[in-house]
Amino acid sequence: MNTYDLIMKKREGSVLTREEINYLVDGFTNGQIPDYQMAAFLMAVFFRGMNYEETATLTMAMADSGECLDLSGIEGIKVDKHSTGGVGDKTSLIVGPILASLGVPVAKMSGRGLGHTGGTIDKLEGIPGFRTSISKSDFIKQVNRIKLAIVGQTANLAPADKKIYALRDVTATVDNISLIAASIMSKKLAAGADAIVLDVKVGTGAFMKTLEDARELARTMVAIGTMAGRNTTAVISDMNEPLGNAVGNILEIEEAIECLKGNGEKRLMKVSKVLACHMLLAAQKAYSIDEADKMVEEVISSGRAFEKMKEFVAAQGGDTGYLENTERFNKATLLAVVTGKDLLQAKEPFKKQNQAYLFACNNQEIGMASMILGGGRQTKDSKLDLTVGICLKKHLGDLIKEQEEIAVLYGNDVHKLKEAKKRFINAYTLSEKEHFSNKMIYEIIAKKDL
Ligand code: URA
Repeated sequence: MNTYDLIMKKREGSVLTREEINYLVDGFTNGQIPDYQMAAFLMAVFFRGMNYEETATLTMAMADSGECLDLSGIEGIKVDKHSTGGVGDKTSLIVGPILASLGVPVAKMSGRGLGHTGGTIDKLEGIPGFRTSISKSDFIKQVNRIKLAIVGQTANLAPADKKIYALRDVTATVDNISLIAASIMSKKLAAGADAIVLDVKVGTGAFMKTLEDARELARTMVAIGTMAGRNTTAVISDMNEPLGNAVGNILEIEEAIECLKGNGEKRLMKVSKVLACHMLLAAQKAYSIDEADKMVEEVISSGRAFEKMKEFVAAQGGDTGYLENTERFNKATLLAVVTGKDLLQAKEPFKKQNQAYLFACNNQEIGMASMILGGGRQTKDSKLDLTVGICLKKHLGDLIKEQEEIAVLYGNDVHKLKEAKKRFINAYTLSEKEHFSNKMIYEIIAKKDL
């Protein structure tokens, strides 16, 4: 077997065997196959695709390239969740404490973000004292004791994915369904949970721009999880505008706390509750969505979910005083307010009007505005400014008036703030009439739907 022949085989559109895929993944991970050959192979996959079986084989080879976590020391059905990523997505911080307060063990390994905002681990680091790295035995003990632990991904979890993702990132081969599915599922399978609930985002702020593509990604990942013997469900949810009101690391922690106290923005709460309900079903703690929904409502309204968040933060060394009084969190020093007038003035047909509806949003651009402020990474070594971000006061479908605030941008550099504000304003489209469908959840895909 040689790499040149395998690149050629995929370039011609043929199906690769298990041995051939394993040869490529093993060879690249141990340095025998150089970057330029793997890059050519990835581009061949980008154009020719992989069938379900090839994608599942690629996933397993990547999962097996490093350590596979053994969570058998944790009692009960362990359920993991994963989002394909978007702007303002802080659902893990909401769903984790909800599930744990209902007795479901959540042993989560999370990544850092590359792109517009940080990942869950970056956000948690906004809580003074919080430790994102704990020993494996403490991790397991903590989940047995309080049902929740969230730590950073170890370097040895699916190292093949780490190497391949870095190459995809610089060779325009990220947005391919097979490669995304294999990348996500290799890490989820290696992380050892019994059941997996996936949040597949669709829209202008997501990898998948159309429902058709999101459905295909969801089906591929559910098929891989099922083949690997893990109960896997995918929720397809909207990412055509930021999720909730906050974009930016500390701002998102504050918003997650508000959600756990029962004061969450409605679209963010909707998707968090749907994910929590499907996790409860997978954990066999509830047997219908109605029953699960009541359980979720109860732990939020009784304060149990917020108490669990405090217990979890304390267990990992964080100062819970910040959760009790979010005013204590570090804030960026400069503010820029975006008003209705700013938006109306920037859009030619609305210049002379004093109101309009927020019609559409290029959500990727909102993410870019947050990144310019310093809230996201331009390269994997960039240092995040956890204090910056955007707080939305209006959402798609809302009527906006000249004097109203649409958003507040938080920054520490006047030039960046100016650039981010411009980018934010350009991201929106207005309309004269109200005609907006505010759909949050599009579809649920499970084994029975394959
Ligand atoms: N998230 C991942 O972990 N991998 C991808 O390829 C895309 C999103």
